[in-house]
Amino acid sequence: MRIQLSFKFLFILFFLGCTSKIPEPVAPNIIPKPISQTIRTGSFLLNQETELHFDDGFEDIANYALDYIEETYEIQLNSKKGSNSIRILKDDSNANEEGYRLEVAENKIEIHANNSRGAFYAIQTLWQLLPVETSQKNIHIQCIYIEDAPRFSYRGMHLDVARHFFSVDFIKRYLDLMAMLKMNTFHWHLTEDQGWRIEIKKYPKLQEIAAFRNETLIGHYSDQPHQFDGKKYGGYYTQKEIKEIVAYASERQITVIPEIEMPGHSRAAIAAYPELGCTGEQISVATKWGVFEDVYCPSETTFQFLEDVIDEVVELFPGKYIHIGGDEAPKTQWKNSALCQQIIREKGLKDEHELQSYFITRMEKYINSKGKQIIGWDEILEGGLAPNATVMSWRGTNGAVEAAKEGHNVILTPGSHCYFDHYQSDNENEPLAIGGFLPLERVYSFEPIPEELNAKEGKFVLGAQGNVWTEYIKTPSQVEYMVFPRAIALSEVVWSAKENRDYGDFVGRLEFFNQRLDAKKVNYANHLYDVKGKLEIQKGELSYSLQTTTNKQIKYSINGGNLNRSYQGPIPIKQSSEIKAAVFNKEGTQLGNTFTQKINLHKAVGANIQLNVAPHPKYNVGGKQALINGISGSNKRYGDTEWLGFSGNDLEISIQFKEPTEITSIATRFHNGNGQWIYAPKEIQVQFDNEEAIFTQKTNSSELLVPVKLDNFGVKKVQNISISIPNYGKIPEGKQGAGHRAWTFVDELIIN
Ligand code: ACM
Repeated sequence: MRIQLSFKFLFILFFLGCTSKIPEPVAPNIIPKPISQTIRTGSFLLNQETELHFDDGFEDIANYALDYIEETYEIQLNSKKGSNSIRILKDDSNANEEGYRLEVAENKIEIHANNSRGAFYAIQTLWQLLPVETSQKNIHIQCIYIEDAPRFSYRGMHLDVARHFFSVDFIKRYLDLMAMLKMNTFHWHLTEDQGWRIEIKKYPKLQEIAAFRNETLIGHYSDQPHQFDGKKYGGYYTQKEIKEIVAYASERQITVIPEIEMPGHSRAAIAAYPELGCTGEQISVATKWGVFEDVYCPSETTFQFLEDVIDEVVELFPGKYIHIGGDEAPKTQWKNSALCQQIIREKGLKDEHELQSYFITRMEKYINSKGKQIIGWDEILEGGLAPNATVMSWRGTNGAVEAAKEGHNVILTPGSHCYFDHYQSDNENEPLAIGGFLPLERVYSFEPIPEELNAKEGKFVLGAQGNVWTEYIKTPSQVEYMVFPRAIALSEVVWSAKENRDYGDFVGRLEFFNQRLDAKKVNYANHLYDVKGKLEIQKGELSYSLQTTTNKQIKYSINGGNLNRSYQGPIPIKQSSEIKAAVFNKEGTQLGNTFTQKINLHKAVGANIQLNVAPHPKYNVGGKQALINGISGSNKRYGDTEWLGFSGNDLEISIQFKEPTEITSIATRFHNGNGQWIYAPKEIQVQFDNEEAIFTQKTNSSELLVPVKLDNFGVKKVQNISISIPNYGKIPEGKQGAGHRAWTFVDELIIN
């Protein structure tokens, strides 16, 4: 039911059910955690006597609230005056436009907000005080006093609809879920190599050609040889649909930022209009993932096209920002193009990076002339930043630091904490993902203001965003799985006061929040009841410890049998063993997955280890000891606690036994995910103690996992072992990351 907007006062009746049992009010478990909350005694009864009052300017919020209650609780609304009230009041004293005060007393609920945004967030908080059980029509709400405001003004979620396309209905659901978390920005990644998804009326071939690809890669990019499904795939949003989504977002206080990628990730547009490229060749919309050489040529034809596109885009999106991409634009075609070289000379530019800066700056000027600002990925810093640009820092946080120090606004989306397309658990049964490892706790630990920034520079940090790239995310249900619960953790990072954040407390609230997601049938990942294990060495004694994030009982077995041993403390390990464990509730029901860990007590377990170079911080979860802890890494993933990743370095590992030890073999394995710039080394070399002899073993596999075993040294009694792992070298032309030095990923060094 919609309210008559001419009514200033509104009376809602909630018909009582015929039940005599009054349910307990819901205990406050609000996410994101408010700045301050004081629980008071008593409860407010939402029933047929409840009146809704709202001040001028809050009609939309009141309508939204009424619709929500009607749809969620199926409560018929009426318009008679009642004896208690919900009052949405204009309060100019609240300095933060998104802040609010919410007071639930026995006879009234008062919301004080400066404007609609604050009032909307107060309503979101109020919803979390209502029961999950929707059949209740007589609702008791805990008395409480809350003062709240967000820490950051930019609280974003991104969605790539180009690698896979998602329906208007799903985008609306995504926005609903974002609103629940008080997220206020939807970054809509609309154009890509694999598909153009926004209707541009002036360029019909974008709809006819660029919106569709002939087929799609099956499995992971690193699986060789590449295989395709042979099915045409695509779609796009009409301008009417886009307007509908923008309006829907606006009702939820969410701004939509469209991303129109340039100069890279533009293969689909060039397939439709080859004159936009540097070669003029007819290419096709990409059917696999990665970075492509085909980028827009900085010609007048291209600028005309992009300006025309922007003309239509600005009419659809009322927000302040247009995202222009700017990431991953290879310069090979520009190096080989006579026109590009002529522009470089004529404009006095140093190189192709400055040409990219010229491109972005020129587009920025045009977009600014339309009253909008640009956002670009951190590559837009290369060759000089466009004057008014906001930088989205994704390759770590250096881009944010550099831009903020230059006085530019920044948004943090580093892969290390904000890429929700990465794996979230090292469970072998996780659905296929692009790679990486980003568990919930790491998202929660994120601090958006890099420590290199002082207080003044820190003010340029507008906030943070979760990115959802969809190469390996084909369905709405899969999007939900990757986004939840990590977006919930991020909502607290960007909303809650830093000093209020506590992971243990968050997990307690999340257990409750999950019931709300269940009610909405959200396909969230639940790793709250996963068990984690760690091999410990103390005074030469080995033991294996188990942990869970919730304070629940862990039960385990060792070398077979039922999970009937209650975990009390580290389990002594005297021989190679297999441990299985799981979390149980008080009633003895198993809650999460069964955790299984094989421990291989080879001769190097417990030895000393040194590396000439530290692993890359993103791929150093287990630290150097992970190489000799008796535990091998995942067969599918290189970002777990066991694999170590090195960016471009030649690696020297030295291992010292406590005493001379007889050995006959050294074995390990390398990841070879070439699509992710990861290459197995061509060989490894080993030297013992102070001997001159060097033993070499070449690797001879092009599979995803490359095992290597060195046993050509006979039986040796040694104390020191030096292992050299020379980096693969430069990635060959035509491959992802061509010209860069490869990454090396190494697993357990098994010495027997
Ligand atoms: C990106 O992930 N290429 C911004």
